[in-house]
Amino acid sequence: ASGQEVVKIGLILPMTGPFASTGRQIEAAAKLYMRQNGDTVAGKTIQLIVKDDTGVADITKRLAQELIVNEKVGVIAGFGLTPLALASAPLATQAKVPAVVMAAATATITEASPYIVRTSFTLPQATVPMANWASENGIKKVVTLVSDYGPGIDAEKAFTGAFSAKGGQVENLRVPLANPDFSPFLQKVADAKPDALFVFVPSGVGAQFMKQFVERGLDKSGIKLIGPGDVTDDDILNGMGDVALGAITTQHYSAAHDSPENKAFVEAFKKANNGMRPNFMAVGGYDGMHLIYEGLKKSNGAGGEALVNAMKGLSWTSPRGPVSIDPQTRDIVQNIYVRRVERVNGELYNVEFATIPNVKDPVKAAK
Ligand code: DHB
Repeated sequence: ASGQEVVKIGLILPMTGPFASTGRQIEAAAKLYMRQNGDTVAGKTIQLIVKDDTGVADITKRLAQELIVNEKVGVIAGFGLTPLALASAPLATQAKVPAVVMAAATATITEASPYIVRTSFTLPQATVPMANWASENGIKKVVTLVSDYGPGIDAEKAFTGAFSAKGGQVENLRVPLANPDFSPFLQKVADAKPDALFVFVPSGVGAQFMKQFVERGLDKSGIKLIGPGDVTDDDILNGMGDVALGAITTQHYSAAHDSPENKAFVEAFKKANNGMRPNFMAVGGYDGMHLIYEGLKKSNGAGGEALVNAMKGLSWTSPRGPVSIDPQTRDIVQNIYVRRVERVNGELYNVEFATIPNVKDPVKAAK
């Protein structure tokens, strides 16, 4: 209504560049959430402002600064990659503006500012169940191959720690994040002949990895593909072909998750976006908007510290399953599912076959 006070949400995402799929998924999900839930919350009008940081941390930081100072946003949100979230954290703290991290997933991010609340996941949270599944299913020797930055190193450490504690043997390889050429690393994997190759690459990069996996003949090597679910992300999975069949991953979201909430979400998301399938980034964005809406309701429209405090402890049923915000860490507590890539009605999906309920970030839980 006219005259109503406005709460602006500054959504900063990589809309162009190598990580544009993350931005496209989150923007689509945030807009879907607003269409479904309206733009009035606690008597205020919600206004979404989307900015493209191209995946470059200096740009994220400048945009966050402009949004806070010029637009006077009540919330900054998005953050497609770990360095982008970390660059913006001090601004959230200085300005006392809540920052909702919808994508970035290095465990330490929530410790960078008391104003950060996260609706994505942490790599250790998704990865420890993978190590347990591998050791319980006859896998004895693993090579890990991860993108060489925060979340990749988190995944490598979480897997290596949990798998070797159960007597498994692990060798670690790291590939550069920018313009990765996987082939020399895949040659090392072929020579090492492990039972399984554990892979972490950020969302969107899995297609390129799979192409080189086939080019090196690793699809015919008998080496099993495992990892957190980023490599078989729903945005690109169906384009990978039969090479992806049988890959086992652990993660918090599959478009094939069998619940009424998820069926409704997937159907509405596809309908609004020319058939695009939502991935785990989309669900992080959708739940991030839900967190902002429900937080504002609980704070009676107040922002700043009152809004962060209102977000702590909230729980709801997400398309991914039951979730809550850990009041101590401001991270999301959620089920992690073990999934296998299968063909369902002609399309490739991560089909969930086991659930580890209410998983907290294990790094912070151990402190
Ligand atoms: C991060 C980015 C991703 O695309 C992903 O799948 C996981 C983590 C990150 O930079 O934190």
